[in-house]
Amino acid sequence: MTDRKARLSVDGLDASIDLPIYPCSAGPDVIDVTSLTKKGFFTYDPGFMSTAACESKITYIDGAKGVLLHRGYPIEQLAEHSDYLETCYLLLNGELPSNEQREEFSQAVKSHSQVDESVAALIKTFKQDAHPMAIMCSAVGALAAVYHETLDITKEEDRLTTAYRLIGQMPTLAAMVHKHRQGEEFVASDSSLGYAENYLHMTFGKAGEAAKVSPVLAKAMERIFLLHADHEQNASTSTVRLSGSSGTNPFAAIAAGIATLWGPAHGGANEAVLTMLQEIGSVDNIDTYVAKAKDKSDPFRLMGFGHRVYKNFDPRAKVMKQTCDEVLSELGLADDPLLAIATRLEKIALEDEYFIQKKLYPNVDFYSGIIMKAIGIPPEAFTVIFATGRAAGWYAHWNEMVSAPYKIGRPRQRYTGYTTREYPSK
Ligand code: CMC
Repeated sequence: MTDRKARLSVDGLDASIDLPIYPCSAGPDVIDVTSLTKKGFFTYDPGFMSTAACESKITYIDGAKGVLLHRGYPIEQLAEHSDYLETCYLLLNGELPSNEQREEFSQAVKSHSQVDESVAALIKTFKQDAHPMAIMCSAVGALAAVYHETLDITKEEDRLTTAYRLIGQMPTLAAMVHKHRQGEEFVASDSSLGYAENYLHMTFGKAGEAAKVSPVLAKAMERIFLLHADHEQNASTSTVRLSGSSGTNPFAAIAAGIATLWGPAHGGANEAVLTMLQEIGSVDNIDTYVAKAKDKSDPFRLMGFGHRVYKNFDPRAKVMKQTCDEVLSELGLADDPLLAIATRLEKIALEDEYFIQKKLYPNVDFYSGIIMKAIGIPPEAFTVIFATGRAAGWYAHWNEMVSAPYKIGRPRQRYTGYTTREYPSK
């Protein structure tokens, strides 16, 4: 706390309004506007461009400098030295685990990787061509049905078990959705495998057969999960917090987060990148599409470019690009025509005045889509992978919120509709 205040003078009010300013450990300090409602005002901030909706200690982003920290650790260092489950532990607990804690956490997550048969049966009821995010959203929502009666969210122990169940079952569900859409039998989770390795085994392996997973692809998947693990108060995380603030079942709140992630302005961009590259079709057409993206009268945007927060570069994109090169070379796809379009597009956009001025750089989704396509994941399932990685962040934010006193989230509005009018007599 601090004695610093912002003084707001308002036309028509005799006295100014003093608003306390609270410091942050990094990033802009915040002005506490909660008292404004007593003075007859709401703040107005569509898109939450200037609104801090909560206090958090989990993740920090400096968009101007291209910095992303989880509990203080730079994402580049985590991508190089850590793995997904260790990063989950860090997000959830605030510190890196000891060797013993790492092992215990990993075993607990693996021991909760089996999906209840009612949820497996539910997945099978969907049309085979249903969008994977629609199935995923329902399947995670259905976990609320499985784990509702026994769950008390005020108990730390119950919340921890929820974390194990969620992180353990997300890859199993993702793989089941894939298998269902392929018309293939589900492959059981193998606890002797690493997290990403097991996901690849359940997705591309055959039921009853031993796992055969390329270490390069397992490392790439591990990186994809890790780079997506958390990203501060983005739309889906804010949804999970808002939904969770009513005290609802955490799996239901996370299903709401999955629904939010699906959109092309958020996690759905990785699918949209692939669709766009296919639509461009050839390097000869790139100029036409860049011109469309710059044309104000054309709604077309270059998918995989730009970010609400990063206005310099997306640090995740740098690591992802390196992984992309490794995967394509392992799979002998370095000459892939879509990759040629992507590489050329990236170069042109980075040199174009419009993109430079508006600070539009390739984001994480630009490269992750190319990697996932090379691995064999269908484009419409890319966002499922994003959701699988992000589950840890969603849980960490929900847990941070419900572990301390919290209020239900209830935004107000600037009402511009009719005032009271009489119902017409008939
Ligand atoms: N292509 C062309 N122009 C763009 C693009 C783009 N991808 N992104 C933004 N602009 C322009 C936009 O038209 C606007 O121009 P003007 O100032 O002349 O009106 C200006 O840049 C600012 O755009 P904005 O929409 O006000 O910016 P925002 O912060 O609200 O939107 C964004 C951020 C990510 C939604 C947007 O850049 C976008 O739609 N990008 C494409 C979709 C995409 O790749 N999304 C993935 C985000 S990363 C994954 C994640 O973290 O969820």
